[in-house]
Amino acid sequence: MRVLLTGGAGVIGSHVAVELIGAGHQVEIVDDLSNSVESVIGRIGQVAGVTPTFYKLDVRDEAGLTAVFEEHRPDAVIHLAGLKAVGESVAQPLRYWDVNLNTTITLLRVMAAQGCHRVVFSSSATVYGTPEELPLTETSLTGVGISNPYGRTKYANEQLLVDAAGADPGLGVTLLRYFNPVGAHPSGLLGETPQGVPNNLMPYVAQTAAGKRAKVMVFGDDYDTVDGTGVRDYIHVVDLAKGHVAAIAATNPGVHIFNLGTGQGVSVLQLIAAYSRAVGRDIPYEIVARRAGDIAECYCSPAKAKADLGWQTELTIDQACADSWRYEQGAR
Ligand code: UFG
Repeated sequence: MRVLLTGGAGVIGSHVAVELIGAGHQVEIVDDLSNSVESVIGRIGQVAGVTPTFYKLDVRDEAGLTAVFEEHRPDAVIHLAGLKAVGESVAQPLRYWDVNLNTTITLLRVMAAQGCHRVVFSSSATVYGTPEELPLTETSLTGVGISNPYGRTKYANEQLLVDAAGADPGLGVTLLRYFNPVGAHPSGLLGETPQGVPNNLMPYVAQTAAGKRAKVMVFGDDYDTVDGTGVRDYIHVVDLAKGHVAAIAATNPGVHIFNLGTGQGVSVLQLIAAYSRAVGRDIPYEIVARRAGDIAECYCSPAKAKADLGWQTELTIDQACADSWRYEQGAR
């Protein structure tokens, strides 16, 4: 298939591009480089053996996006472009709603005009808000108790895409609800280099291991969990990328929803211990107060993706830590 990847220069997009190329697809990338660098495109080529065509473009630029469609006539779109920092979304809600919704609206408009009928969207476990049940399944309650604008834009995007599919019986929409993506490509060439202080746990642990931060701040040890610290479902970014390859093939008309996670909960302290094993020494940490908006536990049942897509995770948290550490040591 010819696959257009929006946000393809980002950490998830670059891994998706590698897996798509490996599976024999032709990949074009659109990215405005607002949170990524163009050199990633060359590194995708180094890893995958084929360098994707790249357009520096904001997906909200309807004329520009139309020109890309006219040139490549994609069979499917994987739509990853968007803003994703929870704290920033609280400070800049209008920007988050504008970018995260208007990218999708423009994309759907151009797809309809150009006769492209398949879209895979990067959604998030955040749509489940405070989980009512664990493990989360695709039919668990969504849209209630989402604690920040970023999360609400993900949920709104899901509704938008469902409405678009409702109005167009030929449109196939797949919503992929990511749990916590971590790790990096085993080549050491692709990964995440957060700008400023990392918001997410594993990049913070990586920078602490590298001596860039004094210690990891563990946000609370009084949750009702295995050791009192927050529990999440950490999925290796390579496994996550493979989930997208499985999803595009199955994106038939209608709406399809899949959790992409391991099904296993890992606590903050367990993750720090795993990273310490990868590095070969203890990583300093300190227990501090809970972070506002955090939930105690979040993990999924990935059974539907296994049954319908034939996909399941293959890599462990230890491999994710080892790959993250390899990337961190060569960090550019
Ligand atoms: N944590 C710390 N110290 C840190 C950072 C995080 O103890 O410096 C803890 C958190 O309290 C939480 C766990 O580590 O228990 C994971 O936190 P992350 O910030 O890495 O991830 P979240 O689960 O909070 O958020 C992630 C994504 C969001 C998404 C959310 C729900 O980053 O985009 O999952 O799906 F909205």
